[in-house]
Amino acid sequence: MTLLHDLTGAPPGMTGGALLLRLSAIGAVLAGTVGTFAYAGGWLAPGLVTPARVVDRFEAVNGPHPGFRRNHAKGLCVAGRFSGNGAGVRLSKAGMFAAGRVTPVEGRVALAGGQPYAADAEATVRSLALRFQLPDGEEWRTGLNNIPVFPVRTPEAFYAQLLAAKPDPATGKPDPERLKAFFAAHPESATAAALIKARTVTAGFADSTFWSLNAFRFVAADGSTRPVRWAFVPDPASAPKGAADAATTDRDALFDAFVAQLAQGPRRWHLVVTLGQSGDPTDDATRPWPAHRETVDVGTLTLTAAMPEAASTCRDINFDPLVLPAGIAPSDDPLLSARSAAYAQSFTRRAGETKTPSAVAAGAPIHGAAL
Ligand code: HEM
Repeated sequence: MTLLHDLTGAPPGMTGGALLLRLSAIGAVLAGTVGTFAYAGGWLAPGLVTPARVVDRFEAVNGPHPGFRRNHAKGLCVAGRFSGNGAGVRLSKAGMFAAGRVTPVEGRVALAGGQPYAADAEATVRSLALRFQLPDGEEWRTGLNNIPVFPVRTPEAFYAQLLAAKPDPATGKPDPERLKAFFAAHPESATAAALIKARTVTAGFADSTFWSLNAFRFVAADGSTRPVRWAFVPDPASAPKGAADAATTDRDALFDAFVAQLAQGPRRWHLVVTLGQSGDPTDDATRPWPAHRETVDVGTLTLTAAMPEAASTCRDINFDPLVLPAGIAPSDDPLLSARSAAYAQSFTRRAGETKTPSAVAAGAPIHGAAL
């Protein structure tokens, strides 16, 4: 058999015409494959928002901070467990919802923004990212913010907003004209920004509610599915005493207060699932669902320990929102796949970079309460 036959898989004795036909079919497949990669890389559409461009823009806006997450750069690792109470079983077949099931959880509390050494500020968006480790290698990763809606609806708007909100070096604040133009082009973001501004900002991480913002779908054992959003709502019984006193004006005040509160005892949040109804937007994280939708408390998250970011802790986890166990599925929200791709890009870049200690690692003692 000739080399040509090896490459085409054509049997010996095939006619010239048939061979040409086969070669052009292979060419078409190759062109299609290369085209898909070129499309994914953004080469065929210069204006396209790609994961690399999004992460480039984070770097352009925040400056280079090798080794750190390109967003939510300042953070602290946490650990604990989730206890299912059985109420979620009728909604989702995910194992952690079974009554009495205890699932180990690793996570990270952080502040939004790409500045790993920024001073803590009350109004900065706080985040909680969690990885639930289920049996048989299944995982649930979820990232949450302490705001009731997300400021943008699409990846393109996210990309535009990054630049519009970039602080002007002269004033330290975003250029008002640029912001105005952004909101004029994205009226849904103006409405969301008003809701975010109107929220009650609590004293710290321990008494914050963290929302999924994006919609997902729960899939039950009988195959039925329903749209959901979820939130981790602080348990009043575990709310920190004197949290306001604990907070100071120090650079790492919010993180230090949380570490001190965890040292006093575990902190608990209820996982409250909101059930969407037909017509509730699942593809638009800027819009809240109507008030008084049915909610179900499906279990309790207990955080028991905080550790500085370092190798083998949360630093090296990518809290990709599309890592889901059977029983939880993505919705049609375009932010979900954009997040997944951008987090992978950020993770790949930071994984290959030399690490400097996190600001929070410098001052935070380790509290390793047993799980
Ligand atoms: C297109 C929209 C979004 C983009 C491009 C984006 C981008 C990013 C990037 C690049 C990171 C750093 C990831 C890493 O290096 O591990 C990050 C972290 C994070 N994002 Fe987003 N994000 C988006 C929307 C959202 C939404 C809707 C939420 C909802 C709650 C969210 C919550 C978080 C959280 C909690 C973290 C921190 C995770 C951690 O502590 O590791 N993001 N985001």
